[in-house]
Formats: sequence, C-alpha cells, structure tokens
Amino acid sequence: MRIGFIDSGVGGLSVYQQVQQQVPADYIYLMDNKYLPYGEKSESFIQQRLYQLSQHLIELGAELIVIACNTATTQAVEFLRQHFSIPFVGVVPAIKPAAALSQGKGFAVLATPATANGEYMAGLIRQFAPHDDVIKFGSSELVRLAEDKVWYQQDVRQQVSDILSVSPIAGHGCGIVVLGCTHFPFLAEEIKQALPSATVLLDTGEAIARRVKQLVGLQSLTDKQYQHCFISTRALNELQSDRLKKLGFDQQQCWPMPILS
Ligand code: DGL
Repeated sequence: MRIGFIDSGVGGLSVYQQVQQQVPADYIYLMDNKYLPYGEKSESFIQQRLYQLSQHLIELGAELIVIACNTATTQAVEFLRQHFSIPFVGVVPAIKPAAALSQGKGFAVLATPATANGEYMAGLIRQFAPHDDVIKFGSSELVRLAEDKVWYQQDVRQQVSDILSVSPIAGHGCGIVVLGCTHFPFLAEEIKQALPSATVLLDTGEAIARRVKQLVGLQSLTDKQYQHCFISTRALNELQSDRLKKLGFDQQQCWPMPILS
C-alpha cells in the first residue's frame, strides 16, 4: 500500500505523524512549498493545483491520498473525488467536536484566511454549531511561524503571543479553540501560553489516522522496510534536508513543476 500526503508546507506532517504510527505503508509526502501559503490563493488555483499534485502522486503509485491541509480540503476535495477514482481523505476544522464540547457557549477557530472566510466552514458551523457564537480568525503569519519552528527550531513564542493578543480571540474568553490549519498543532504550546491556561485546543490528526486505518483495512505486519519519501516543489536547503532525515524521510526529491494554466 502506498499512501500520498499533500500540503503546502510542514503542516501536513502533524497529520502524517499520527497516521504513520498507526498504518504500516509506504508514504510519499508532497509539499507544495513553491506556492505556500495556500491560505491566500483562490479556489480555482487550489483546485487546479491539487488536481496536478494528485495526478503526480497517482503516477507514483499512491492508492490513497490524504489532503493534509484544511484550506485545500475545504476548497478542492469534492472536485478531486469527482475526477479520480482512488479514495481521498480530507482534513476539516473540528467544528462538530467543538460544538459538542461547548454546549452552546461558543468557541473560536484559528485557521488560514481562506478557510476562516470560506463557505465550507460557514456551512459546517450552520450544520453543527447553529447555537454557538463562533469567533473565526485567519492568519498566514502563524503558518509562517510554524514553518520557522519546525524547520529551524526557532523560538516563536513572542510572535505568536503578539498575533493572538490583537486577534478577536483575545479577551473573548472562549475556552475552546479549534486548530483549523494543520500547521497549528506545531504551535500548540505557544498558542496555549498566549491564552488563558484552561483553554482546550482541538485538532483532527487522530481522527484522520482512524479514518485512514479504516479505509486501508487490516494489513498484516511484516518485516518489510517501508519507504518514506518526501517531495518538495521548491528545493530545500541543507538544514531542511537534515531535519527531514531526523523525521524519518529516507528519500528526498524536488519536483519543481509549476501550475499549468
Ligand atoms: N496547512 C494548511 C491548512 O491546513 C495551509 C497553510 C497555508 O499554506 O496557508 O490549511
């Protein structure tokens, strides 16, 4: 079994780490860093680009693709399901669990600008949290800080706190924050530090791992050495390459294909 992952950056690794622990398979992580951040692109751009990236992964043998990005899922997963026959697992903000937990008291969603302002999330809120006051905040700056932290172990506490302190989340006192971007679990500590200590953060990594496991079915564990391949669309530097080795990616490639217009 070969499973593909797609995200614009390192965010999808927060999902990949959970899936990979539970499902023995060959993995290809395709990081579209040429076009990071996705949260500032149009829907038609995201759909065309995700089509192209999915096609590439399928040519490389992927039999299931995880769109490890809320922005790409909310804008393109239905489009991809219409065009390809393999299963796609998407990641969407945990609105339903947040509503179950808040019991009408309201919660906040931290996402990219595209997800925060998009129709897909508005629909999830109408469907699952009609009685909640939901504060939405989209930030590409937080995406960049997560990149800096994961690649270079930078201390980003102050910047995260500065961003959140002027956001609509500050002072609202909602005790539940949905991490609606796969980059943000990497900033969980910093986000918690910037908010009241009892704040609960919700993400969907574990639920995605369960879903993939269910789709893949029971695979017999063998001694097979699984492959973990990382493909970026813009060349990585030496520090990034070392980091990937530490994260278990034994193969690294660059596929610098631009979007076809
Ligand atoms: N990791 C992505 C998400 O979950 C997108 C980050 C970006 O490129 O804006 O939305």
